[in-house]
Amino acid sequence: MKMDLPLVFTIFGATGDLATSKIFPGIFNLFCDGIIGDNFKIIGFARRFETDKEFRNYLSSYLYGDEQKKIEFLKKVKFCKGDVTNFNDYVKLKEKIQNEVEIMKTCPSFLYYLSLTPKFYEDVLRNIDKVQLTKICNAPSNWYRIAIEKPFGESLESDEKIEKLLRKLFVDDQIYRVDHYLGKRILHSLFTFRFSNSIFDGVWNKNFIERVELKILETEGVENRVSFYDTVGALRDVGQNHLLQMLSFVAMDEPQNFNHEEISREKHKVLKNLNKMNKKDIVKNTIRKQSKIYSKLVPNSKTETYFKILASINLPRWKGVDFVLEGGKYWKEDRKEIRVIFKNNNLFDKQKKSPNEIIFQIQPKPKIITKFYKTESIFNYQLTPYEFEIEEFNDNLYSEYYFLIYKMMIGERIFFVGNDEILEMWKFTDNIIKAWQNNLVPLEYY
Ligand code: BG6
Repeated sequence: MKMDLPLVFTIFGATGDLATSKIFPGIFNLFCDGIIGDNFKIIGFARRFETDKEFRNYLSSYLYGDEQKKIEFLKKVKFCKGDVTNFNDYVKLKEKIQNEVEIMKTCPSFLYYLSLTPKFYEDVLRNIDKVQLTKICNAPSNWYRIAIEKPFGESLESDEKIEKLLRKLFVDDQIYRVDHYLGKRILHSLFTFRFSNSIFDGVWNKNFIERVELKILETEGVENRVSFYDTVGALRDVGQNHLLQMLSFVAMDEPQNFNHEEISREKHKVLKNLNKMNKKDIVKNTIRKQSKIYSKLVPNSKTETYFKILASINLPRWKGVDFVLEGGKYWKEDRKEIRVIFKNNNLFDKQKKSPNEIIFQIQPKPKIITKFYKTESIFNYQLTPYEFEIEEFNDNLYSEYYFLIYKMMIGERIFFVGNDEILEMWKFTDNIIKAWQNNLVPLEYY
């Protein structure tokens, strides 16, 4: 499990929320556990600080764990002050990287991580190319990889541009498209639950399943990232990526092999056959709302902070099954889950109020819940519900990013997204976003 590779890890957007609260702690924990050994350097690229020391002090408050390890870890962190749109700053960055390579006295591997809003992706990729950050040195066993975060662009069109630039620099197996929901244990469990328990295999289709509900509902708001969120909205933030990925995991056929290509092919098949909606469907099947708290925060904004979409999949297995996607901020409760609701042909439940359900719950607590019913009394045949639960191991330290960064380092892309999938996800959401922008569906308030 331990990797002792020489590695230079460069993080663009190193002072941002994602980098400091998820990416750096993920690497730090891999370091504390001895998984990434000692032979690496991290270079943070951002505008905010002047010196390594300033950045380290700032980063320090985001790292939790053994104090001695923290000191050792921070020594490996360097900072390069730079603006992602300014070519000269990439020249400076390259010098820093080369300097580290010289100190390492070997040709390491390189991981570039774009932890930025998508509007900067094109700039960064063009500059990486121009300054040749993928040609620093070569050795038989070193590699260059790039990680880019969702949202993958801002639309189908922008994703295509980003993809073109990526392909100029990297081949597919060097590209890690990160949707952190694929780092969640519950999605791994969904995968193994479906494909290692044959008792569910026969019922995983339209004959037995009535509806699948996919939810990312959060009590938290967006106070600390309004400027980003207002240009994105709830559908692009969690619908175009996390929820559609969850949907593809529920609905995919069994892949022939447990590898990225086969799994991505099956997920792509689902997403491609997701019925893309015309204007009439959008009016009928979508709802968008804005929280009143948000309206006060950003007066006159038309950005949705909540949505609900009724989707369907045009594959024989899923004809007629409703897939309900729902995402929202400032919600009354935290509820993130995939709820598979079965048809009810139950002799004892004429009102059809007791369907079997399997819930893959992320929040409030990660667990898999299966709902069954049976009668209890000798006096009547009323049904009593029973829930069987499997709790997921939940340890904050071992976050999604611990898992995903580890996989990037060992070169395993199973839980990363393929670009074919991304294109289909944009095709589905672009129509809806455009129709909403044209006010075809009124913005409601809650
Ligand atoms: C992020 C979104 O991708 O996912 C956030 O940008 C959202 O708005 C978050 O809150 C939810 O992730 P998690 O892991 O907290 O469920």
